[in-house]
Amino acid sequence: MAKLKLLAIIWMVLVAMLAGVLYTPMPEGLEDPFGATVFMAGYKVAMSFPLVVREFLGQGRFLDNLEAIQDPILGEGDRSPITSWFGGLNVTRATIEGVPVIVYKHWDADDDKLRPGLIYFHGGGWTLASADTYDWTVYELALATGAVAINVNYRNAPQHPFPAAFDDVVSVTRHILRHGKQFGIDVSRVGVAGDSAGGNLAAATALHLSKKFPDLPALKYQALLCSFIQGLTFHLPSHIDNAETLPSLYTKTVTAFTSLYLGLGGRNGEFHGSMFLENRHVSPEFRTKSKFAKYVDVQNLPEKYRTAKNAAPTAKESHNETVFQRIKSVLVDPRFSPLMADDLTNLPAAIVVVQKYDVLRDDGLLYAKRLRDSGVETVLHEGKGFHDDQMKILPDLLRSKTGLKAFKNVCEFILRKTKSN
Ligand SMILES: *[C@@H]1O[C@H](CO)[C@@H](O)[C@H](O)[C@H]1NC(C)=O
Ligand SMILES: *[C@@H]1O[C@H](CO)[C@@H](O)[C@H](O)[C@H]1NC(C)=O
Repeated sequence: MAKLKLLAIIWMVLVAMLAGVLYTPMPEGLEDPFGATVFMAGYKVAMSFPLVVREFLGQGRFLDNLEAIQDPILGEGDRSPITSWFGGLNVTRATIEGVPVIVYKHWDADDDKLRPGLIYFHGGGWTLASADTYDWTVYELALATGAVAINVNYRNAPQHPFPAAFDDVVSVTRHILRHGKQFGIDVSRVGVAGDSAGGNLAAATALHLSKKFPDLPALKYQALLCSFIQGLTFHLPSHIDNAETLPSLYTKTVTAFTSLYLGLGGRNGEFHGSMFLENRHVSPEFRTKSKFAKYVDVQNLPEKYRTAKNAAPTAKESHNETVFQRIKSVLVDPRFSPLMADDLTNLPAAIVVVQKYDVLRDDGLLYAKRLRDSGVETVLHEGKGFHDDQMKILPDLLRSKTGLKAFKNVCEFILRKTKSN
């Protein structure tokens, strides 16, 4: 009986979700609305399903349930990663400096031939997803770039707030730069890549290693896909205009994730999230008059993006001084906000992927401009897609054209930067 009831509930949820999926509104101007619809359908079923079910069963609201679905479907464990059955690459689990990783090696990797190394940090707001969720993505990246790939399962918030995730990805990267040979990696051809929160970790790692560990072999590149680059303001035009463009990433989701990563009340993401959404996490003086203000000045954006079309969320109260004092130093800490670093010179070559309809678009545009102005070789890939158009967690047929273009461009860039001489 209990089973039948559960099936009935699952069926009802599926039907309700199907209706929801059909009604995903797409912004005008999106390059591939059909691809986006298909992607969103898959995304909702795979990623939101456990949250929706828990909410439906009355087990709390969306954000309260984050902890419960750390590994939504592809939970990790001792089993072999899914792609180890695909062939083509030898996919195994390992632990580097205490951090679990998945390693993707080409069949010849046991020979003396060393290959480039690609260290990938998955997205998920520092809170969701795992290396297993991105197993297919990193498998495809390793195949397309000929690199030995390391897919890092860093610790997630809220159980492990900042700087846990950062510390994990930095230890793994340092280890690879020292002992990469054991993995068949040529340590002079290693790069970091990531999307969304993972792009934040990749940018922060590239910056940290080049400034603090000049004795290590330099990273060859940083691939930053639709990345979070700063937390000083959530009122950049892309935050405002794309706030609710597509359900894959709302601005209010970014702010909730941010508050969880910063260790502000694990089960109270929504309270602090809305404070960030209204920019009440920072004093207005600090945001507009400190030496950091210039880094988020809209004048540094391309002219077409300088003015938001919609109005910013207005705050009924003034900023929360208690919260501001608590997070002030982290907000401008380059390990969290790479855009706040004083010096961006001598960093690894970068490819920065932004999508027009992504809330994080302006973070990427501001960072790409500063990197260029600091003399760093920077490729800006500007697509007409949405936040998740950078990834490749689905087979080609189900991907949007926009996502495939970005993926191809990133792979070409990596190949170019890691060619052996
Ligand atoms: C795959 O990797 C495992 C662990 O590194 C190793 O024992 C095995 O020989 C590899 N298999 C092939 C076919 O390279
Ligand atoms: C500021 O935020 C804290 C939670 O971090 C809350 O307890 C406090 O009431 C808030 N203060 C004001 C004035 O809203």
